[in-house]
Formats: sequence, C-alpha cells, structure tokens
Amino acid sequence: MATEPSRELIVYFDNRFVPLGEAKVGILTHALHYGTGVFEGIRGYWDAGQRELFLVRAAEHYARWRQNCRILHIELPLTTEELTRLTAEMIRRNGFETNLYVRPLAYKSAERIGVHPDEHDAFAIVGLPFGDYLDSRVGLHAGVVSWRRVEDNAIPGRAKICGAYVNSALAGDEARRNGFDEAIFLTEGGNVAEGAASNIFLVRDGKLITPPVTDNILEGITRASVMELARQELELEVIERSVDRSELYVCEEMFFTGTAVEVAPTVRVDHRPVGTGHIGRLTAALRHLYTEATRGRLEAYRRWLLPVYRPAAVRAA
Ligand SMILES: Cc1ncc(COP(=O)(O)O)c(C=O)c1O
Repeated sequence: MATEPSRELIVYFDNRFVPLGEAKVGILTHALHYGTGVFEGIRGYWDAGQRELFLVRAAEHYARWRQNCRILHIELPLTTEELTRLTAEMIRRNGFETNLYVRPLAYKSAERIGVHPDEHDAFAIVGLPFGDYLDSRVGLHAGVVSWRRVEDNAIPGRAKICGAYVNSALAGDEARRNGFDEAIFLTEGGNVAEGAASNIFLVRDGKLITPPVTDNILEGITRASVMELARQELELEVIERSVDRSELYVCEEMFFTGTAVEVAPTVRVDHRPVGTGHIGRLTAALRHLYTEATRGRLEAYRRWLLPVYRPAAVRAA
C-alpha cells in the first residue's frame, strides 16, 4: 500500500458509485474524531489464465462486518448478498485485472462535537490494486511488543473497530522500530493473542495450535480457512487454546494468517530461531494449499470464491 491510489478509481460512497477523488467526509465526522467505524478487508485475486477475478470469502467478510456493526449500533442497510453484488459491480466498473484489496468501511457520520454516537450512519466500499502486504518469502522475524492487546471489555478486538487499530498501529510501529517484521501481542493476562493485523499459529508436537477467540483476537477468516485446510487436507489436529509466551520460543513452527498477510511463515521470534530457523514443513504445505485454494485451483474450495466477471459461467462449470 505504498503508493497513493488513483483519484479516478470508482468507489461506492454515499449510496452511489463516484470517483475516489470525490469520496470525501467532513472534518467534524464523528468516526474521524472518535474512531467509531467498523471496517473489513477482502482480497481479490486475478487469474490471467482464466481472465477472472476471484473475491475470497466475500460473504463471510460481509457477514462479519454486519455482525460487528451491531456492536457499535451502526445500521447497515444492505444484506450480505447485496453487499457482495455491489462489490462485484464496483470491480467490474473499474475493469480491474490485477490482485485487489477491498476495504468496506461503515461509520458514525454525524458532523458535530460530542462523543455519544447517534443514528447517523454511512458506509463506503473501496477496491485498490494490491500486492504483498509483508514480504514473507524467506520467513519473518517477529517480536513480542510491550503494548498489550485491547481487552474485550475496553474495545472489542473481534469487532474490527477503527479506534482499536491505534493498538495495532502502536504495536506495528514498535516492532518495526525494533527491527522486527511483525508484532506479537500478549493479552493483559500474558497469553499470546495475535499479530498487529493477523492471527498466529504455532506447531507443537506436530499439532497446530492457535489462541482461542476469547483471548481478545479478531475472529480471522483466514484463520478459519487455514484450520479447515489443515484438518481436511493434512489431517492435522488443530487445537484452539491459550498460548504462553515461552511456547513461542520452543515451538517447531510458527506463522501468521490474515487477508493481507495470507499465510506468513515466521522463522525467528525475539531473536531466537523458530524450530530449525527455516520455513517449517507444515507451514509451507498450508501456505501452498491456501494459495491454491484462493486462486481457484482447488475444486473443493471454489465455494470460497466469487468470480466477479463471469459469475454465471463459472457457477455452471
Ligand atoms: C487484528 C487482526 N487480527 C487478525 C486479522 C486477520 O483476519 P482475517 O483473516 O479475517 O483477515 C486481521 C486482519 O484483518 C487483523 O486486523
């Protein structure tokens, strides 16, 4: 996300399609001051061979968005299916033939001073060309940061609330300044929670372990996809349980998952090698499976994908 997107991109804003350059909010917008928005992140992968763009688990992302908006009392006027259709239409209007990131954002839109939210809600959907979020080809070096993950009773981490991402920004900034590629959050209680914008998995004794949804994590859709692939394709045991910090230092393998980071192997943590210090066998297998599944090359997982340009043709195939 290094370069600024073209102002000419067509986005959905204020109940219509407009160029990005015209999609503007006022300086007093509630969400801008108080963080009262809920967002999503959806990937789209362009397949040059099939000349098709596949949106990954759009229905799950929109279902999560709609659920999370309830936490902030934001009214989303469209169904999951309508939102998915709108997104496909936006992509077609742009004629994208590249990998994409789609950013839906719902927010408290009143323009006034005062933290108490009211019923003025708005939403927008933007799609941008998008490449790698983190370069994890040779494996990342992750570091536990001093910031703790937001507590559910403070700002629910599961809700993808804009204001909660100050927590992620502080963690990511600290990690980078300390020479790490990615941050690892602990909970206030000292358990491993997740990355700044990703979930975390460890391998111990050949089993896949990931913190439970009650340890202040975002209920990641990539996390769910990877758990399904691990169980179905590799017949791995997958355990959701609280994870101690020191387990990071004795595990065999480690990786992050997320829409943006995909499956990102971690080969060092807090200046210690993870396992052999090279990308682990199970991590590599899961990364490969996730790539194949999200590019439409695994029949069993085509149900995760929405073909944007020829929905009917691909459904019939
Ligand atoms: C804090 C946090 N955890 C985990 C994830 C991964 O979630 P998902 O796989 O649904 O993208 C994200 C990314 O959106 C995130 O921001």
